[in-house]
Amino acid sequence: MAETITIIDDRTGKKVTVPITDGVFPSSALRELDPDLRVYDPAYLSTAACSSAITYLDGDAGILRYRGYPIEQLAEKSTFLEVAYLLLNGNLPTADELAKWTYDVTHHTMIHENMRKRFVDGFHYDAHPMGMFISSVAALGTFYDDAKDIFNKPALDRQTLRLIAKVPTLAAMAYRFSKGLSFVQPENSLSYSANFLNMMFKIGNDDTVDPVLARAMDILFILHADHEQNCGTTAMRVIASSNADPYSAAAGASAALYGPLHGGANEAVVRMLEEIGSLENVPAFIQSVKEGKGRLMGFGHRVYKNYDPRATIIKKTAYDVFAVTGKNPLLDIALKLEETALKDDYFVQRKLYPNVDFYSGLIYQALGFPVDMFTVLFAIPRTAGWLAHFAELLGDKEQKISRPRQWYKGPDERDYVPIAAR
Ligand code: CMC
Repeated sequence: MAETITIIDDRTGKKVTVPITDGVFPSSALRELDPDLRVYDPAYLSTAACSSAITYLDGDAGILRYRGYPIEQLAEKSTFLEVAYLLLNGNLPTADELAKWTYDVTHHTMIHENMRKRFVDGFHYDAHPMGMFISSVAALGTFYDDAKDIFNKPALDRQTLRLIAKVPTLAAMAYRFSKGLSFVQPENSLSYSANFLNMMFKIGNDDTVDPVLARAMDILFILHADHEQNCGTTAMRVIASSNADPYSAAAGASAALYGPLHGGANEAVVRMLEEIGSLENVPAFIQSVKEGKGRLMGFGHRVYKNYDPRATIIKKTAYDVFAVTGKNPLLDIALKLEETALKDDYFVQRKLYPNVDFYSGLIYQALGFPVDMFTVLFAIPRTAGWLAHFAELLGDKEQKISRPRQWYKGPDERDYVPIAAR
């Protein structure tokens, strides 16, 4: 059978036939029919705004692959820095390439003293760390005079390296500031994730980090590193399309991630579990969700309609962490919620399953992170994915500045009325 689609404009009888490739047909077909014809697609439900070779996601089958590699294999066998390299370069590094990349990232983790003294110290004492993170990522770009040189590959590679290396430092700095704790310098002998945990929680002179906890952090970083065209990544691409610098674009993407329907969901899950408070309250809470009085946070996904493969890995990682830290008391409520929802017609019919955020918050809490930091923990690894999309977009000859059209529904032309006559 022909893999084509024929669209007929019944107003004119004009028709156009175009190929369907991998389930996609070009919107040029519509422009051919009538250049003023628009597709109304709020929230881009049926729009592929770009082609991409970075992440593959099949929501019905519960598949997630970075550059072709299944997320399960990467979470089990790889490290976050190797995955970041993979996302950015398209292939797994050789041993030499990985050693150089790890060395380079490790040696770019420090930030300019003025970032802390002048910039971070200027925040109010109770500033939300995500607000501090977003603004400090944007501010970081002002320290590099080559930040805007985005079509110069070595310069763009430098910004990529700087951002990936420095986001954990900025994140830890935001946390330490909010706690009134002195800033901890990066420690080059530690891995990316262990160094981050050390910068967060070091008290006194002890630089040791429990390897199980460092590995759990690394797995969480791997799972969050990319997720194709989600809200934050779309923001990254839209900003990149105007050829802004990657720091400004990453700050914009972080802002998109901040919302409770996106990266803010893990924070919302823990607040929800705390509010539920005990196992007996679970049925009443589920009932209130079904009555439309709120959402079961950490459930449901725009793309995954079977299960979120990241949630399965995270649930296992949670038990590894709890073996070291002791069980998070909210775990039993989460398990009961999951069990109840998965048996309930409301959730079954709508294909609502636990997503990546349902258990990640419990791990973060067990690791000692305050709830306010959760979205920051998502933004750190996602920076690698954002930068891979940034570079891919700049190299894509089919891309132009993002500029969607609208369906105007406002008033027709009317004459200005002087204020005295209104
Ligand atoms: N609890 C209760 N009902 C829900 C939920 C939920 N978590 N999610 C969706 N529904 C219902 C929704 O009310 C609607 O019902 P009806 O058809 O009767 O109106 C139906 O399911 C479809 O929902 P939708 O809002 O059209 O679905 P969407 O694809 O636009 O939304 C979502 C996806 C993730 C925003 C949504 O499922 C949600 O709000 N989940 C809770 C927040 C959350 O956990 N977000 C993290 C997403 S994963 C991390 C990330 O990638 O950012």
